[in-house]
Amino acid sequence: MASTVPLGHSLEGPAVGEPVILLHGFPLNASMWLAQSRHLADRGFLVVLPDLRGQGRSPVAPGPATMEACAQDVLKLADDVGVERFWLGGLSMGGYVAFELYRLAPERVRGLLLADTRAEPDTEEGRAKRKELIQKLRTKGTAALEETMGPRLVSDVTHRARPEVWDRVQTMIRSTPVDGAVAALEGMMARRDQGPLLPKIRVPTLVVVGAEDKITPPADSLAMQRHIPGAQLRIVTGAAHMTPMEAPDAFNHFLDDWLKGFRAAPAKFLGKSRAT
Ligand code: MLT
Repeated sequence: MASTVPLGHSLEGPAVGEPVILLHGFPLNASMWLAQSRHLADRGFLVVLPDLRGQGRSPVAPGPATMEACAQDVLKLADDVGVERFWLGGLSMGGYVAFELYRLAPERVRGLLLADTRAEPDTEEGRAKRKELIQKLRTKGTAALEETMGPRLVSDVTHRARPEVWDRVQTMIRSTPVDGAVAALEGMMARRDQGPLLPKIRVPTLVVVGAEDKITPPADSLAMQRHIPGAQLRIVTGAAHMTPMEAPDAFNHFLDDWLKGFRAAPAKFLGKSRAT
């Protein structure tokens, strides 16, 4: 096992609450989950909000930030904060890490939330684009991320109706260290195909996607939902890639249903099974 990195994180809600871990997307940090962490903490959940290695408050580690290394960091953090089993949500890169964590330690996960993400690895074209972005990052800094990803992260509706959402996204992008962004891109380029894992997922799973998402389009979410037993799919109109920030009320409502679903979950969902 590669060595883990101590993750910058925050905890919201009562220490005795049912634990929920939320993993952010790239090139962002845990503050993207502000509306969800407040909502869940108010309802008595313990929300664990890590920054993935090389992003937000977490240190950059040498080499690619592989999905496996990121998942091991999160497992170590869960151990350190005394959380044995937890609900696990991830947006985009956070979803890639959530899949990997489930693959490594399915017995730790009570439920999965997969937001604006996909199970497939990068295509050749996708890898070539990431290599180009790495070059641009080295010359232009995080302005390269804003130029390349900015127009696709937030929908036109959000830009017009809630410009503060883009301001917050931009602040997160600008605070991401270049070395951390490069490591994350290298890690995402090398990620495995999680397709074979999907039919083995045995926990209540909620898939959410923005109808305007062009980075991980709704078709990818539909494919995931079809292959994960019992998974629910929610498509959010007017939102692009940042659904938890663009449509917080709708997103929180879906979270409530997902977490309720657990309490009523049939026994087949609660059995332990290794998903290798
Ligand atoms: C993200 O939002 O985490 C990234 O856009 C995912 C990706 O680039 O594949």
